[in-house]
Amino acid sequence: MQQITIEQLKTEIRAVWHEAWDSGRTDALDSLFTDDYQRVSANSGRTMTAEETKAEINEIRAAFPDLTTTIDHILIEGDQGAIYWHSEGTFTQPLNDVPPTGQPVTTHGSNLIRLEEGRIAREEVTWDAHELLADLGLKSLSSAFEAQPEVVTDDLSGEPSADALKAFNRQFITGVTVVTTTDEDGKPRGLAVNSYNSVSLDPPLVLVCVQKTSSTYPALFRSTHMGINIMSRNQRDTIGTFASKAADKFAELDWHKGASGSPLIDGSAASIEVEIKERFQALTHTVFIGRVRSAEASEDEPMIYKAGRFFDSEDLTSLN
Ligand SMILES: Cc1cc2nc3c(=O)[nH]c(=O)nc-3n(C[C@H](O)[C@H](O)[C@H](O)COP(=O)(O)O)c2cc1C
Repeated sequence: MQQITIEQLKTEIRAVWHEAWDSGRTDALDSLFTDDYQRVSANSGRTMTAEETKAEINEIRAAFPDLTTTIDHILIEGDQGAIYWHSEGTFTQPLNDVPPTGQPVTTHGSNLIRLEEGRIAREEVTWDAHELLADLGLKSLSSAFEAQPEVVTDDLSGEPSADALKAFNRQFITGVTVVTTTDEDGKPRGLAVNSYNSVSLDPPLVLVCVQKTSSTYPALFRSTHMGINIMSRNQRDTIGTFASKAADKFAELDWHKGASGSPLIDGSAASIEVEIKERFQALTHTVFIGRVRSAEASEDEPMIYKAGRFFDSEDLTSLN
């Protein structure tokens, strides 16, 4: 390729990039991409067509409406090249079901490109939308986003059926917690959760997994703190309320605020207030990891939950 052609190509890449990423005119990419263009994420291995790439640009621009992208360097040698870039924008609309934080973010990436007759046939991108969320401190569990095999040939390969997994889960006994927070209007919010687990004592870390469709989820996602209340054997009705979609789940309850404002439910077997440290994105759920800031426990025995039913823990038979 002649020197002048390389310079022309660099100018075109800059112009088209600006059109697509900064102005949303993604059809401008058509002049730059070959007909069988492929964009491969170096992180996830996912391959996208030109149309899928345009759709992703539009999704990202919708989430970051003030997005500006700068090409820092373009290197071209033979039929290969590299584009180094960074983007800045404010996270104002949901992205991949992740609620916006309102925070500004700067993210960097580099694209290894393969050229065919002066057009880009393939890009290998060291960046994807997960990287952008990671730059906001919102990490993804990449295993949750792995593509599923399309055909399940037998029960010995791939993954167990949903029924087999449910049968396994039914054999696991847990307590029940109510996870609480306050929403933007200062209203107490909460839901029943049995995915609570203690991560470590030192540092004092705990986790809960919350479904993204939960009406409590957006408020919880924005919160700096959450309350976790272990339900006692006397709180069967309270569990019912917090496993429902009732408009005001706290209306009939006695509760108080923890030091950081999280609602703590009176009569619980125990309650903690947790500073939320991590919000790991799984596909349908977010894993919240938090550092315990205060803890209170009563003498009341906890509720037991097994296979969709609740049990009294008072008269358990000890095996030792
Ligand atoms: C025993 C029990 C355990 C539950 N555990 C969880 C859980 O770990 N994570 C979750 O997202 N939902 C869990 N749920 C379901 C929610 O409590 C339920 O979907 C609730 O209606 C959500 O309310 P919301 O949409 O108002 O937030 C559990 C429900 C019950 C009864």
